[in-house]
Amino acid sequence: MNTDLTPRITIMPNAERLARNCAAFFCRTAVESVARNGRFHVALSGGSTPRPMHRLLATPPYLTDIPWAHTHIYWADERLVTEDDPASNFGAAKKDLLDRLPIQKEHIHPMVSPRPPSEAAADYERLLAKSFGTDPPKLPIFDCIFLGIGQDGHTASIFPGDRTAVDTTRWVVAVNGGSPNVDRLTLTLAVLRQARCIVFLVTGSDKAETVQTILEQDRETLPPQWLASNDNQVFWFLDQDAARLLTGDTFRNEA
Ligand code: 6PG
Repeated sequence: MNTDLTPRITIMPNAERLARNCAAFFCRTAVESVARNGRFHVALSGGSTPRPMHRLLATPPYLTDIPWAHTHIYWADERLVTEDDPASNFGAAKKDLLDRLPIQKEHIHPMVSPRPPSEAAADYERLLAKSFGTDPPKLPIFDCIFLGIGQDGHTASIFPGDRTAVDTTRWVVAVNGGSPNVDRLTLTLAVLRQARCIVFLVTGSDKAETVQTILEQDRETLPPQWLASNDNQVFWFLDQDAARLLTGDTFRNEA
C-alpha cells in the first residue's frame, strides 16, 4: 500500500544519461519482480524516447543481469500497421532489443494484428488473461509499465479528450489518433493504473510545458495525472530540457 501519491522525479543531465539510468532501473525492477514472484511482466511504449534504453538493454551487463528467461514483454500501445512499417512500436523494439535477447519468443507479446481493431483488442485481452492467469473483472497487474508523453499530454494511446480508454472496464481498446493518425490499440487507464510501477521517460525541451502542467498543475486534466494510486508507484525520469520549467522542489537531480 503506497500512501504517498507524490511521483518520484529524477532529473538527468541529458538523454544519454537518462537512458542509462532507466536501463539500470529496468534491470533492478526485473530482478526484484522475479525474486518476488518468479516472473517479470513489463510493458513497453513506442515513440523515440525509449529507443536508447531499449538498445542499452540488449548489451552487457543487461544481457546477462536481467532474468530474461522469466520476463514477459508486452506493449502499452501499438499502431495497427505491419511490423515492418517504421511506425510500428513492435518493429522498432524488435530491431533495437528483441532480436538480440536470450528470450523465448513465447514471452514476447506484440499487439500487432491484421485483424479489425476491435477484434485485435479482444484478442490482446484474451492473451493478457492467459498470460497473467487473470479473468475479468480482476485486472492484470503488470510489474512495470514504461510510458512516454506526447506534447499534447497523451500517454500510451490515451489522448486528452478521448474517453474511450478511460470510461471503460475493458483492458484493451481500439482508438484512432496521434501522430501518425492511425488505428491503434492501447491498454486502458484501469490496466495502466493497476501496474505496481509506472515509469515515465521524457526528454526534450518541447515537452517541458507539458511536464510542468502534469507535475505542477493541480487540476488533473491530462491522462498521466490519472495514473497514481495507492497500489502503484509512479516514477518520472526527465532530462534537464524536459524539466526546465519545473519550479517545485519535489525532484532529485542526478549529477
Ligand atoms: C505511441 C507511444 C506514445 C509515445 C509518446 C511519446 O505509440 O505513440 O506509445 O505514447 O510514448 O507519443 O513519443 P516520443 O517518445 O516519440 O516523443
